[in-house]
Amino acid sequence: PATIPSLGPVGEPVAGVVGHPIGQSLSPVLHGTWLKRYGIKGRYEIRDLPPDNFALAATKLLDSEGWVGMNVTVPFKEAAHAYCDILDSAAKRLGAVNTIVKRKDGGIEGRNTDLYGFRANLEAADGWADTGRGVAVVLGAGGAARAVIGALQDLGFAEIRIVNRNQDRAKSVASDLQQFAASKLSVGTYKKLPKWLADADFLVNTTSLGMTGQPELDIDLSPLPKRAFVTDIVYKPLETGLLAQARARGNATVDGLGMLLHQAVPGFVAWFNPPEPPVVDDALRRAVLE
Ligand code: ATR
Repeated sequence: PATIPSLGPVGEPVAGVVGHPIGQSLSPVLHGTWLKRYGIKGRYEIRDLPPDNFALAATKLLDSEGWVGMNVTVPFKEAAHAYCDILDSAAKRLGAVNTIVKRKDGGIEGRNTDLYGFRANLEAADGWADTGRGVAVVLGAGGAARAVIGALQDLGFAEIRIVNRNQDRAKSVASDLQQFAASKLSVGTYKKLPKWLADADFLVNTTSLGMTGQPELDIDLSPLPKRAFVTDIVYKPLETGLLAQARARGNATVDGLGMLLHQAVPGFVAWFNPPEPPVVDDALRRAVLE
């Protein structure tokens, strides 16, 4: 065992995050903070995996290196979905797995906790409780948009308007997700945005625009009602151009960091068996932002 770096002392659980490339994940600090806080002897690592054979690399970690599970990020979420023996309902619905749990019976369980993380971040936010469940506008139609739309369906929005450059992509998101809820899913380009914002209760950016190093999201919020709640899944910077514009005009907002923190909770519970579910609070936010 001394030659296998991930195997800690007997009984010490090891998990980690895998992706490619994976330079800047906050997950090791996040899980490390919780392990310390709850006095749990366990480890959380970070691995850049070769992009060509996820199944082989994952099996090596779970079998030879004894990992109890892993977080899965870009570009492996669909490959992880194909790899797992058992899927939770969110993973089935989104066709993507971001959390793998090796069960005691040896089965490999795949979950998608992004949908939960997005929803939990909203539900913990000031101003969310008063938000109407009429119209939600979603910018983007990638993998992140699918998790966000799933959460908005579960939250009971009557209509979800998906705004995307590439209309084929937006249409396939709508047709894949429509079956899971009664919410009307509409698809349009950025040309529609002024009209679509005018009666919206909720707006979210799921594109990477506004992220440090990316172009700004260039949209004008002036048609948006003041009652609407605005959020962004970008969390670097915490206050994106979109959120700054929304706050300046009086809309309630929450930043995207909470989604990342909340999506980590179910994995931590399954792998490390803490005495209580780990808490997402300001101390954790500060720790991961350091
Ligand atoms: P993720 O998994 O993070 O959602 P993704 O699947 O690559 O990433 O999706 C990126 C999203 O950002 C898409 O909706 C993309 O729009 P297109 O489908 O039209 O490409 C959107 N996006 C990226 N760059 C953009 C830009 N410059 N303008 C508008 N949308 C952009």
